[in-house]
Amino acid sequence: MTKLIDNFNRKVTYLRMSVTDRCDFRCVYCMTEKMRFLPRNQVLTLEELEFLGRAFVELGVNKIRITGGEPLVRNNILTLLQSLGKLSGLTELVITTNGSQLTKMAEQLRAAGVKRINISLDSLKAERFEKMTRVAKLDQVLAGIDAAINAGFEAIKLNTVILKNRNDDEINDLVAFAIDKAIDISFIEEMPLGVVSDHQRSETFYSNQQVLKKLEKSYTLIESIKNTGGPSKYYNVIDTNTRVGFISPHSHNFCDTCNRVRLTTEGRLLLCLGQEHSIDLKHIIRANPDNMSLVKQAIINAMDIKPKGHDFDINQSPEIIRYMNMTGG
Ligand code: 5AD
Ligand code: SF4
Repeated sequence: MTKLIDNFNRKVTYLRMSVTDRCDFRCVYCMTEKMRFLPRNQVLTLEELEFLGRAFVELGVNKIRITGGEPLVRNNILTLLQSLGKLSGLTELVITTNGSQLTKMAEQLRAAGVKRINISLDSLKAERFEKMTRVAKLDQVLAGIDAAINAGFEAIKLNTVILKNRNDDEINDLVAFAIDKAIDISFIEEMPLGVVSDHQRSETFYSNQQVLKKLEKSYTLIESIKNTGGPSKYYNVIDTNTRVGFISPHSHNFCDTCNRVRLTTEGRLLLCLGQEHSIDLKHIIRANPDNMSLVKQAIINAMDIKPKGHDFDINQSPEIIRYMNMTGG
């Protein structure tokens, strides 16, 4: 049973941990071309990440997602995964990656106990991929997806952000690709996190309702009964092994069933992706090294400031100046 229950009686059982703000990509909806990254001493060490992971699991968290930035560019990330993978009580260790390191690392990730993996993919066209990510690494990512399939994860899911007039003509092709590989795919509406230089978010906004409409012309989608908690809504594509998910922060309010908190690269515990409420866990553990009960109490206390919900507005300049690479989605 989790000890983490907030004032709206929501039980927190899921921690998303951003292990680095760095990334080998510069996706246009996530970063500016010239990003400045955090100095090393502001970033949690692998030991600190493990310590905090252990604290959360002892408090009843049973799922940890490792994110970034790109988590697999963090030096020695496997050692963290291996130690988290051994925590009893942690039933799901999962990771979100851009796929660029998977040809090298997929098997080791699986061996470390990573169960499921999410891989970002916005286009199957090399030139287009480069426009979206600002790197020419489509082939490397496609090979990485195959490496993940061969490594035998329990599930693999593609994450796709659709931007109007950029890649909305590839919606059907991306789903066909997922079906061909017998993996899942989720469409994520662009969220106004951080100031990006490439485009006005209101101009590129493409709703998941529009995505669904496009898909229904070619596929029969059946609402999945596995729509419990979380912000995703899933459909099974009839006669395939593929599920299509929709993460719709704009049109759907999923805050009522929110079960998650986020640990930023700098060790801030964020209680809501769309709000600034947070506590500084790094400060607490650096001021009181190895004091597990103190940090656990701080985490329990933080539940009191988990906000009821959030509202994104793409027509306003972002109130949230955090970038996604700090908070790990
Ligand atoms: N809005 C929506 N999705 C985003 N991602 C990164 N930045 C944003 C944003 N502003 C996505 C990436 C990746 C996942 C971790 O988050 O595409 O798939
Ligand atoms: Fe890197 Fe992911 Fe941000 Fe793209 S969305 S720049 S892959 S952290």
